[in-house]
Amino acid sequence: MEERVNRTQSNFKNYFESFSGLSQEHQNNFVIKYDHSLRVADLCKTLAKKIGRSEDEQTLAFCAGLFHDIGRFAQLVEFNTFNDSKSVDHAEYSVKVLRENDFLSDISEQQQTDVLAAIFSHNKREISRDVTGDGLELAKLLRDADKLDILKVITDNYTKPRSVPNHTLTWEMPVGSVVTPAVAKQVLAGDLVDKASVASQLDIKVMQLSWVYDLNFKPSFQFLMESRFMEKIYATLPKSDTVIQIFRSVKVYAENKVMN
Ligand SMILES: [Fe+2]
Repeated sequence: MEERVNRTQSNFKNYFESFSGLSQEHQNNFVIKYDHSLRVADLCKTLAKKIGRSEDEQTLAFCAGLFHDIGRFAQLVEFNTFNDSKSVDHAEYSVKVLRENDFLSDISEQQQTDVLAAIFSHNKREISRDVTGDGLELAKLLRDADKLDILKVITDNYTKPRSVPNHTLTWEMPVGSVVTPAVAKQVLAGDLVDKASVASQLDIKVMQLSWVYDLNFKPSFQFLMESRFMEKIYATLPKSDTVIQIFRSVKVYAENKVMN
């Protein structure tokens, strides 16, 4: 098992290092995605362990986590952006890179199908109904780990702003002073905020709060609460009635998930 983890890691590292002649900006973005992938891999493994999965399943979760954004590197080099709507769907690109490089050849066909389905689904609003069984669970683990790590990155940045801009934080949008009504409506209805409704950095933060409605496992909620991600986001928001109401509703939802 250890051996498979090592092989997965060295495939990932070698692929990452195969890009040369990058600009400083691209290099910075490469490192951001590389580090994110490592943390998501570890978190996938930890969550899999906490929900009682076997070592083999934990390794598969690690593998899905490590490779989920591997298409980001080629996306940035070929299109000079991480904006999927202006380039390619980066999850599909990850699947393509994994196939072309044969990075999953040492696991069973069923496991390959599950890993690729989880990666393909990680950035979609919903997991496709075609994904079932172990693949569905893996997709849920990956979505939880990815969201939790993005929450970590954004909230770390509130306390220690980096000089290097991170597109995850701003999407190059205006700051915003009021929550867009469509965004408020979705989160207050207990729904995940649709990216298409997001119009400002304030809306992005509200959307990130709405991610609680898309977490799947109790250990994910425990991690969310222990890390105080919701409180850290809330601390940066203007305290309008709408914002206060939104914060209360996501907080109560998460608290109940930890207790029940
Ligand atoms: Fe991603």
